[in-house]
Amino acid sequence: IVAQLAPKPLAGERVLITAGPTFEAIDPVRGLTNRSSGKMGFALARAAREAGAEVTLVAGPVHLPTPRGVRRIDVQSAEQMLAAVLPLAATHGIFVATAAVADWRPARLAEHKIKKDGKKQAPSFELTENTDILATVAALPNPPFCVGFAAESEQLAVHARAKLERKKLPLVVGNLGPATFGRDDNALLLVDARGEQPLPADGGTADKLTLARALVAEIARRRATLNT
Ligand code: CTP
Ligand code: CA
Repeated sequence: IVAQLAPKPLAGERVLITAGPTFEAIDPVRGLTNRSSGKMGFALARAAREAGAEVTLVAGPVHLPTPRGVRRIDVQSAEQMLAAVLPLAATHGIFVATAAVADWRPARLAEHKIKKDGKKQAPSFELTENTDILATVAALPNPPFCVGFAAESEQLAVHARAKLERKKLPLVVGNLGPATFGRDDNALLLVDARGEQPLPADGGTADKLTLARALVAEIARRRATLNT
């Protein structure tokens, strides 16, 4: 009943979200990944659904339950995440990239497990850069409203603004890590052409679901302004 009475600022809207880390295979049993928990992206998917949106969540390898009413597509690598996202971008009005996409993948995938036997030296691996999923979507002819995340260890506003400009995004959400990685509470900084705005507004911290709901309201407000 409460949910039915709540305002639905994203009713009729489709929201595409990437979340979690990616896993870049080295051989059949090993790979490169990172410590992203996926919690922020999953909380955003839940909040966007609560706000009335049809939500598609493209998730890297995480052990989190799918939020109620959300369509989930599981992927492993950055290449798979890009392949899942690209065909969906045209049918979604909002794209929120919370995934910690691996910046590099091993240049070659070994067909069999790499063995120690006989080798005098530890192996070394050549890396190749992964395509920037968010920048690719933002550069499409008729892009959705694109929201980027920037997890930084210092100079949050500076780095977040640089990403806003480099990837040509209407909104970047910054947070200071790794102190917040995997934790349930966080503090965000919204960075757009107008300036910077902390979330929560008092500059403190809040749990990720509270932040996700506030962020969804901010995205809905900006998106509505753009449409008029
Ligand atoms: N992103 C993406 N695809 C990538 C790399 C990043 O979609 N291959 C997205 C992330 O989901 C995030 C935003 O781009 O929304 C910023 O990611 P981040 O790692 O902070 O930026 P990078 O451009 O990779 O720069 P760096 O890691 O050097 O800070
Ligand atoms: Ca990166």
